[in-house]
Amino acid sequence: MGRKILLEKINVPGIKTYEVYRREGGYASVEKALKKMTPDEVVEEVKTSGLRGRGGAGFPAGMKWSFIDKKSGNPRHLVCNADESEPGTFKDRYLMEYIPHLLIEGMITSSYALGANLSYIYIRGEYMWVYKILERAIAEAKAAGWLGKNILGSGYDLELFVQIGGGAYICGEETALIESLEGNRGNPRLKPPFPAVKGLWQNPTVVNNVETISAVPWIINNSGADYAGIGIGRSTGTKLISASGNIKNQGVFEIELGVSVYEFMNSDEYCGGMQTDRPLKALVPGGSSVPILPANLIYKTAAGEDRLMTYESLSDGGFATGSMLGSGGFIVYDDRACIVRNTWNFSRFYHHESCGQCTPCREGTGWLEKVLWRIENGQGREEDIELLWSIQSKIEGNTICPLGDAASWPVAAAIRHFRDEFEYHIRFPEKIKNRDHFVAEP
Ligand code: NAI
Ligand code: SF4
Repeated sequence: MGRKILLEKINVPGIKTYEVYRREGGYASVEKALKKMTPDEVVEEVKTSGLRGRGGAGFPAGMKWSFIDKKSGNPRHLVCNADESEPGTFKDRYLMEYIPHLLIEGMITSSYALGANLSYIYIRGEYMWVYKILERAIAEAKAAGWLGKNILGSGYDLELFVQIGGGAYICGEETALIESLEGNRGNPRLKPPFPAVKGLWQNPTVVNNVETISAVPWIINNSGADYAGIGIGRSTGTKLISASGNIKNQGVFEIELGVSVYEFMNSDEYCGGMQTDRPLKALVPGGSSVPILPANLIYKTAAGEDRLMTYESLSDGGFATGSMLGSGGFIVYDDRACIVRNTWNFSRFYHHESCGQCTPCREGTGWLEKVLWRIENGQGREEDIELLWSIQSKIEGNTICPLGDAASWPVAAAIRHFRDEFEYHIRFPEKIKNRDHFVAEP
């Protein structure tokens, strides 16, 4: 069995409740931090752990925390990004739904480290039932004295609120999230300044993902060095993976970073292999924003090394032959999947979710969707593949926020690795019209 940190207690009956969570050792990190450690010592432990942002970008959490200006005297904030919306990603929901106090504990310990007295959890509007679970957990924690004034007699005060989003994917982008939290339309801001310098109400703010914050209690209870000892290289610790698609076991798994993609796909502890005896065709390893990998690049890198579930190995070779760990939304396709249709489906999503601020994203995502739709529906033109390539290349790197890149990368990767499938759609429209999915000709 692989190492479990976040999900270690997930199957304890009643772990959702404060009583059971506390009995199982919950809130020990708050006690330890507030009674025995200075805020800077907590930051140092997190730095030592090598914990990287689990929302998708993988930015070192401790480094982000150390950017916070503690000398200016301005209020500081910790904001938990629970606006989980990346297609294929459902791991934060799992944590919040089944072990909500882990996040609350992480929020208190992390807020203490940052000197934040007012913190927020921003949760996507579609997770209404999870919002209610969090509200209940916060009320329990408050009643038990873990929130409010002078926590554990330490002199440290913390108020924690949950804010519900309105259902816009873009509000998962940290500056759009901050705008939304301030009561404005969720339009991303230009960075820099990064939120660590000017965030919520222009105050220094750390925005961290649910999973990132939930790892903090273990790090403080044990040590940063212990955490850094798990995993491999700069990919330390464990990671939650939401696995879906044509595999036997769909669900959320905790892996020790460094397990091979082959083992993750095929061992009974994780995905359990392909759902049927149909062959593996493609993999999106990190949510819809990351490049799709064709079968020959899934288990081995282009250099012939075993592909590992790490930030580095999944991106080995750059986008020509690699992808990204991203948010850990692991989507597996067998040979029945139509890559054109899948790419169109992703493009439709990004077009719908674009906030419209920048022209390349607003217009480009619409054109990607339109051109992919006509190819998929037997009306493709010979020049359409080059047109798609041109559109995506003009979006990438030319927008305010990464939604533009996220819209462009899947299209580029699909064309790079599955060009023959696009050509087939264009050349044999009568064969693909009016069918539900694409099955490669024998
Ligand atoms: P980013 O790389 O721009 O930033 C990562 C974090 O590091 C941010 O919090 C940023 O403020 C901070 N940072 C970077 N440089 C800094 C500096 N010099 N000073 C201070 N802070 C600095 O990436 P971003 O936009 O936060 O996230 C993009 C990722 O989000 C994508 O890779 C995608 O995988 C993921 N994503 C996840 C979703 C989900 O539902 N979990 C949804 C959509 C995207
Ligand atoms: Fe809005 Fe797209 Fe520009 Fe991001 S890239 S700010 S979503 S228009």
